Amino acid sequence: MTLYLIGLGLNDEKDITIKGLEAIKNCDYIYLESYTSLLLNTSIEKLEKLYGKKIIIADRELVEKKSDEILDNATQNNVAFLVVGDVFSATTHTDLFLRAKEKNIDIKIIHNTSILTAVGDVGLELYKYGKTTSMPYFEKGFEPETPYDVIKQNKSNGLHTLVLLDIKPDRKMTVYEAISQLLQIQEKRTEKIFTSDLMIVGCARLGSDNFTIKYGKVQELQNNDFGKPLHCLIVPGKLHFMEEDMLGLWK
Ligand SMILES: C[S@@+](CC[C@H](N)C(=O)[O-])C[C@H]1O[C@@H](n2cnc3c(N)ncnc32)[C@H](O)[C@@H]1O
Repeated sequence: MTLYLIGLGLNDEKDITIKGLEAIKNCDYIYLESYTSLLLNTSIEKLEKLYGKKIIIADRELVEKKSDEILDNATQNNVAFLVVGDVFSATTHTDLFLRAKEKNIDIKIIHNTSILTAVGDVGLELYKYGKTTSMPYFEKGFEPETPYDVIKQNKSNGLHTLVLLDIKPDRKMTVYEAISQLLQIQEKRTEKIFTSDLMIVGCARLGSDNFTIKYGKVQELQNNDFGKPLHCLIVPGKLHFMEEDMLGLWK
């Protein structure tokens, strides 16, 4: 019996690979990891129709606290665990993988596109990105400055920074919200890293036909409506002239 970890890609039900689809057709239980990302232009119903199978939504609690259910099923049956984007990109499902290994469950990984590679559309060299960072929604008493520090560190090494934005069941962080929080951090700091005239890139819905990429000053991008989720931000590092030409397309 096999546990298939399958990347779904970024946009709609048709982004799955032929290998991924064939594996699903061969599975008795299909879990869809639902809390770290979302497919932009499709629905559970459309996925179920394409697969010809019922999907079990795996929220954070199911995956983190009740993963025994998934693994127990995988000892007796073929199980598919679907992840939007790629399987181990950005958010890792290493815990599930290791626990499956402990139980001697056969595992097969079927890859797909991730936000980590789709940002290539912007035109900044993927090799020249530093550490990726995530911006969580600020709450009272919880206003981490890590994204700011990561941007600072990457910039000092001439590297680009990809800032992934928080996803909650009822809201998805926008470019506007992320910029506002980074400016709030900036106000508390003495160094000048994320200032209103810093040139950055805002992206929305990469991998879909209605994607948006904008390059401009922080204050300009804050006033730009990026539309529906998902959004992310990029803070460029040192630019090669070809990268400058590419960014020029998004001004
Ligand atoms: C945890 S990451 C996604 C990980 C996923 N497994 C992958 O490989 O892409 C989720 C965050 O990435 C960003 N993101 C994901 N897909 C995106 C897209 N198509 N366009 C813009 N940003 C995206 C958003 O900031 C979102 O909140």
